[in-house]
Amino acid sequence: MLPHAALVTVLSAALGAYALSEGGCVSFDASSSGFPLVGVTIITSEDDFPGVHRAVADFMMDVASVTGTAPVAYNITDMETLPTTALIVGSVNSSVITQLANASSVDVTSLVGQWEKFASGAVPNALSGLENAYVIAGSDKRGTIYGLYELSEQIGVSPWYWWADVPIAQHSEVYLLPCAQGPPTVKYRGIFLNDERPALQNWAAEKFTNGTLSTLLHSPFNHLFYEKLFELILRMKANHLWPAMWGSAFCVDDGLNQATADYYGVVMGTSHQEPMMRSTPNEWNLFGNGTWDYSTNADNIYPYLYEGTARAAPYESIFSMGMRGAGDLPLSDETNIELLTQIVADERQILSDVFNTSDVTTIPQIWTLFQEVQGYYEQGMQVPDDITLLWSDDNWGNVRRFPMPNERNRTGGAGVYYHVDFVGDPRDYKWIESSQISKIYEQMSIAVDYEATRVWMLNVGDLKPYERSTEFFLTLGWNASRWTPDNLDTFVTTWAQREFHVERQEAETITEIVANYTKFSARRRPELVNGTTYSLINYREAESMLAEWDMLRSVSTSIYDGLAPEVQPAYFQLVHHGVLAGANLGEMYIMAGLNQLRASQARLSTNDLADKVQELFEVDYDLEDEYHTILDGKWNHMMDQTHVGYYYWQQPITNTMPAVNRVQSRKQALAGVMRIIPEGTAGAWPGDNPYQCDRGYDCGDPTMSIDRYSPISDRYVDVASGGPASFSWNVSSNATWVSISTEGGDISPDNNEARVYLSVNDWSAIEAYTAAQLTFIATSEGVDPLAVNLTFIAYNPGVPADGFAGFVEGGGVVSIEAPHTARNTPVEDITWKEIPQYGRTFSGMTPWPRTDLNFTAGSGPSLEYDFYTFSNTTSMNVTVFLTPIWNTQGPNNPVSYGLQLDDGDIDIVKYVPYAEKSGGRPTAWEGVDGFVANSIISGISSFEAGSPGVHTLKLWMTQPTVVVQKIVIDLGGQLPSYLGPPESVYVEA
Ligand SMILES: *[C@@H]1O[C@H](CO)[C@@H](O)[C@H](O)[C@H]1NC(C)=O
Ligand SMILES: *[C@@H]1O[C@H](CO)[C@@H](O)[C@H](O)[C@H]1NC(C)=O
Repeated sequence: MLPHAALVTVLSAALGAYALSEGGCVSFDASSSGFPLVGVTIITSEDDFPGVHRAVADFMMDVASVTGTAPVAYNITDMETLPTTALIVGSVNSSVITQLANASSVDVTSLVGQWEKFASGAVPNALSGLENAYVIAGSDKRGTIYGLYELSEQIGVSPWYWWADVPIAQHSEVYLLPCAQGPPTVKYRGIFLNDERPALQNWAAEKFTNGTLSTLLHSPFNHLFYEKLFELILRMKANHLWPAMWGSAFCVDDGLNQATADYYGVVMGTSHQEPMMRSTPNEWNLFGNGTWDYSTNADNIYPYLYEGTARAAPYESIFSMGMRGAGDLPLSDETNIELLTQIVADERQILSDVFNTSDVTTIPQIWTLFQEVQGYYEQGMQVPDDITLLWSDDNWGNVRRFPMPNERNRTGGAGVYYHVDFVGDPRDYKWIESSQISKIYEQMSIAVDYEATRVWMLNVGDLKPYERSTEFFLTLGWNASRWTPDNLDTFVTTWAQREFHVERQEAETITEIVANYTKFSARRRPELVNGTTYSLINYREAESMLAEWDMLRSVSTSIYDGLAPEVQPAYFQLVHHGVLAGANLGEMYIMAGLNQLRASQARLSTNDLADKVQELFEVDYDLEDEYHTILDGKWNHMMDQTHVGYYYWQQPITNTMPAVNRVQSRKQALAGVMRIIPEGTAGAWPGDNPYQCDRGYDCGDPTMSIDRYSPISDRYVDVASGGPASFSWNVSSNATWVSISTEGGDISPDNNEARVYLSVNDWSAIEAYTAAQLTFIATSEGVDPLAVNLTFIAYNPGVPADGFAGFVEGGGVVSIEAPHTARNTPVEDITWKEIPQYGRTFSGMTPWPRTDLNFTAGSGPSLEYDFYTFSNTTSMNVTVFLTPIWNTQGPNNPVSYGLQLDDGDIDIVKYVPYAEKSGGRPTAWEGVDGFVANSIISGISSFEAGSPGVHTLKLWMTQPTVVVQKIVIDLGGQLPSYLGPPESVYVEA
């Protein structure tokens, strides 16, 4: 009797194989007593799925690439004698696995009937003569395929080895350990190639067609293209695809497309606007008769849908049910729920006829609740229970709604349609990565907790450059239980080690780089940024942004320079290009904003900034060109996307440089040789200027002030040239408590600006408001000395009371990042939890776990912030900065939080407006200044201020899915800015 070896389901700790997979299945160390892979014979069964045989061929190539030795493979029926050592691959019903099960060598009961599960491990004496076997068994076709690709990844082949040129690791010895995964958290995990022009389309035309596009639609997306994509999808353990559809029709462009998908093992679907497996409107425009209007033309539309269904019947598919109007617009206004209900009934009749069954409930069907369709559903439209309801985000990464408890036991379940790339209102975002992994996690983990796990679909635009977020989305869908807010950063770290073959420390640096550049581009998507997005005068906001981009650029460059040359192309595609291009664009817009400002201030440096904008605009193209020329042009066109100078929501037809101003460099400014520009104003002295004072003339000398508790501890004054004349300048003060960074210098057209920093060197010398007089004097040949007086006011409000610990008012505001609490008090097991590297500035605090909690005001978990005020104001306006979400708890139950100052009444803030029209969008969502464009919603409360001194703000949990990022308490001093004031000074007790 052979020993009975159950396929092991225990996972050991990672052993130095960097895979995003769960790890632990491979060792490169002979002492691991694993199964030696080098030189192995592979045994398969003739009767296994063709897609498994295809994946075995990939696996053999992978082993050959990693070890330098190609394995050999045989179907068991072709073998006269068995070798003593072999690697056996098979799905549970294949003849070789059946043989092993019959011989009691393996027990496959844990696999039988399961979805996409695999187990592998060593089996001694599996069959007579076969002394050492390593068996990879899958519960079904994809279970087996994933079992192979899992090992491929762990031995050193990234799923992106071709799609992002990740070098394959080399190992002369490889040992296989027990391995088991599945079933997945999410049954169908897929991507959607959408709005694939210009980048993906132009690239594919060059790489896959030799110039001959598809006959009818001139699409490049033939089976040669899709074979590459299917392999990528399967290597990431995804199983589902909505194909390119903007100018293409999957089933028409290449007669081999559908069969190839099925052969590989990819389940095809079509997007929310393309019912019954036909690419609509493209196919309708080619083959349909009459208008796309079911109320008047059902006689022609019905057979059209029937044909699409019949064409897909031999293959694994998920049918999109329902219908939208032509051009992805809502059906006409008169369209009602009754018509849509009839359409779905007819579609199900088609399924019944085509599949020759009276029970269509086992045929996978989805219905995407996209915009108006969600409205119909909420108005009571009946959806057959077995159809999966695909809830969608608002195209901007905020899921509009999740299944409520009474919606969670539908047999068809629910899913989510999500975007990392989008074409539409308020503006396209489709150039570089502008989604944060932490945000994707925050949203999609709610989907898991609320059981929207039947289908996950990610709109990936042109696919590149969203490689990392795509893989994260799919990895989360494969096994959501692996990821928590506490280990989320290890996703990127592990990914960086796998892709760039770097040590842990460099991988952690790359993790920081990725977190930062996606934070900066998610603050406001690059397509929406302009020269005044970040304040040019308050809180040094634009300057901080420039410094942050600069820092990021230099850290990423030093990583890039330190990588082996063969790894650099992968790093360039996956990280470095996004950093350089994002930083360059961000800098260009700020320079353009400063250029406009300086022109109004009559500064000669206006022209330097105009030149700088022009130069950065050219660098933008250089970076695109570099992407297109690396690796002999492998990725030519992949960065074709225009992205500079949007005129409305749709992409500009070419990039347009931001407008710049110039001043006449040979003409002297009317007011004299020197310009004085204190920080915090758009005005300039001497002379008139609309920003000096309301009146715009005779404004008097400038004033600038500093607060002892300002988080920025100095103030600056720019001394600038007003034209061709050179001059010498100096500054003097009548107060010893002012420190001046530079007391004088020379200004000339080539060196036309100087920045002087002022600070207080002795706060004990300052009582309340104390003014110093500074005088800037310019001397220049042939003209009288020019003097500008500046009043510099230092404000010392005193010190907080003894023993106080917390944030201190400065400049009339208190600003606090949400996790910086004095107390975080849970109720039972429910607490506010931090999601690191999240949102616009620091991180997010959210109710955890995501139970369907509903606390009354003051009974739930709370966050408390202690702060100290000096201002004697009557009211305190508090702005809570929150992640844009929707009323995820359904109609009539708006999300909220409670805010309480000291022991006052609790203000329940319902900060997310409902759409005026069911299924529509709230007005506050819309436009380039709406809450999705700004990536933030403000919750505003007003309190009676009470007396100056110690205060506590309490933020009460009332509802789930709320995410708080930052809190700003305005005591009368808050100035306009994009991100809100920087965090206040914190004093220890
Ligand atoms: C095993 O048989 C299948 C089906 O005939 C075939 O496609 C495959 O190439 C064979 N594999 C080997 C290694 O001969
Ligand atoms: C394009 O031409 C190359 C070289 O002749 C050939 O190998 C390849 O199969 C062709 N591709 C298509 C899609 O015709």
